[in-house]
Amino acid sequence: MLVSPSLLSCDFTNIERDVARLEAAGADMLHLDVMDGHFVPNLTFGFALVSQLRKKTSLVFDTHLMIENVECFIPQFAEAGSGYITVHFEADRHLYRTLELIKSLGSKAGVALNPATPVSMLDEVYGLVDMILVMSVEPGFAGQSFIPSSLAKIAAIRAEIDKRKRPVILQVDGGINGKSAPLAAKAGADALVSGSYIFDGPIEEKIKLLQAL
Ligand code: DX5
Ligand code: ZN
Repeated sequence: MLVSPSLLSCDFTNIERDVARLEAAGADMLHLDVMDGHFVPNLTFGFALVSQLRKKTSLVFDTHLMIENVECFIPQFAEAGSGYITVHFEADRHLYRTLELIKSLGSKAGVALNPATPVSMLDEVYGLVDMILVMSVEPGFAGQSFIPSSLAKIAAIRAEIDKRKRPVILQVDGGINGKSAPLAAKAGADALVSGSYIFDGPIEEKIKLLQAL
């Protein structure tokens, strides 16, 4: 299991220290939650922070854009060193163009689905994406409870990915903890995002527990 700790739960006055801790603990990626106050009712940070962090760690940046007008900002997030850029199906009217743009800039392209968005919306993009992100909470805040109906969505997407035999990472984000993580793993997740559970500590132990699933 790949583990992508979410920086949303870090101590923002000690970001560099917390990123170093995650890297030393063996995290596979670093999940960067970018929120704009429009698509989701919260604000976080932008590409300036991402690009400064790029100089502090060699972790792969897994940038989760919860923003509108994604096309305007993708070049900056790619330039800032995002290995993966994931956009929301619900926030983008021209998903095909967006995914092509991300790939043309050298990043891997991901698409995220909100809890109420059906998996059939992915039918036209399985051939284009490198990552599919199933939101198991409504995006916007850390520390929410895992929505159980996400499990059926994970299993359905797993089956579609396996049928197509293309390398696509199936990532699950929201409410991941010691109870929900094994269920998401069993349903077919390849990667888990976790914020509050990992940062509750001990960080290394939590990351290893998730990786072992
Ligand atoms: C929610 C974010 C998540 C969140 C996860 O909108 O996309 O990445 O930070 O936090 P936990 O693991 O606490 O649900
Ligand atoms: Zn996220």
